Amino acid sequence: MVRITGPQKAMAVVGGIIALLVAGVAVGSLFPSASNQGYAPEQPIPFSHKLHAGENKIACAYCHVGVEKSRHATIPAMNVCMNCHSVVKTDSPHIQKLRQHYAEGKPVEWVRIHELPDFVYFPHKRHVAKGVSCETCHGDIKSMDRVEQMEPLTMGWCLDCHRGKTTPSNVVREILKTNPHVNDPGQRYKPIATTSCSACHQ
Ligand code: HEC
Ligand code: HEC
Ligand code: HEC
Ligand code: HEC
Ligand code: HEC
Repeated sequence: MVRITGPQKAMAVVGGIIALLVAGVAVGSLFPSASNQGYAPEQPIPFSHKLHAGENKIACAYCHVGVEKSRHATIPAMNVCMNCHSVVKTDSPHIQKLRQHYAEGKPVEWVRIHELPDFVYFPHKRHVAKGVSCETCHGDIKSMDRVEQMEPLTMGWCLDCHRGKTTPSNVVREILKTNPHVNDPGQRYKPIATTSCSACHQ
């Protein structure tokens, strides 16, 4: 009998894992709508929303300056952090790392979490303007030490809200102000936003 010794066995296991990964990527590209739900990567600096947006009640838009006025919410530049951390908690090694990045002009490489494919158009501004809360799509960020993707962000998920199936009631009320037709009693659901392909795939 041929015994597989330590290093060879390790190689065989590694080979197996690589084969599985390759197969996984191939399957993934056949079904690109596989969701990132649950993704919660570690960040280069452990920034806590619970501490900043929760306990210290800093407004979302103080850091995510684009969210009410443009397509992208945007991730804050280091000078926003330095508004406080040039004096706050300067003895922390994490803040020292932040200050070093700032001094060298090297942006922190935050790992992107929520990300639609390039062929999808998603405007934050339009949603925020009709009262769709951050929490509806991002979960209770204020209580998170590390951000996690809570919703699937698939096409079906977008459409369920646009078709009126999962739309929060405050949003339905907001839409009714300008579009009374939404309230057509003959309809099971009240479509509150577009379902046309070209609106989301421009
Ligand atoms: C003090 C600045 C600051 C405040 C206030 C803040 N954020 Fe953030 N936010 C960040 C930074 C920095 C990141 C990137 C690091 C991370 O993901 O934790 C981020 C990441 C995020 C992400 C994930 C982005 C991605 O990659 O997909 C979401 C969603 C988010 N914030 C929502 C919120 C919401 C909602 C609020 C208010 C309840 C809020 N943020 C308040 C600084 C802030
Ligand atoms: C209707 C759902 C929805 C709402 C409401 C929403 N977001 Fe988002 N958010 C998304 C989606 C989808 C993405 C990914 C967008 C992409 O990849 O183009 C995203 C991405 C982000 C990002 C990272 C990328 C970027 O756009 O710069 C941040 C930060 C963020 N959202 C913060 C917020 C904050 C803060 C609020 C509330 C003021 C909010 N979002 C409200 C769905 C939503
Ligand atoms: C409006 C003020 C303010 C802003 C802006 C701000 N922070 Fe903070 N941050 C705080 C406060 C307050 C604490 C808690 C300090 C304490 O524990 O005494 C804190 C704590 C931290 C800590 C934990 C430090 C430790 O080791 O305990 C990190 C990391 C951090 N902030 C990173 C950031 C980053 C990155 C940004 C920019 C995206 C940022 N902060 C923006 C006020 C701010
Ligand atoms: C919780 C409800 C909700 C979710 C989830 C949602 N939307 Fe929306 N969407 C709305 C509302 C409300 C409007 C605003 C309609 C209006 O202005 O009358 C809107 C408007 C839009 C518009 C502008 C349409 C136009 O008329 O030009 C686009 C594009 C869009 N959404 C894309 C998306 C995409 C892509 C997703 C998924 C990633 C998504 N939405 C998820 C509620 C939602
Ligand atoms: C409200 C926004 C929205 C509308 C309207 C919409 N889509 Fe999408 N679509 C998305 C999002 C978000 C994705 C990416 C996530 C996913 O694949 O589920 C997507 C992905 C896709 C994909 C790739 C998915 C896959 O499995 O390969 C195709 C093809 C597509 N859409 C076609 C259409 C067609 C055709 C229409 C009109 C009948 C349409 N979409 C209407 C948001 C939308």
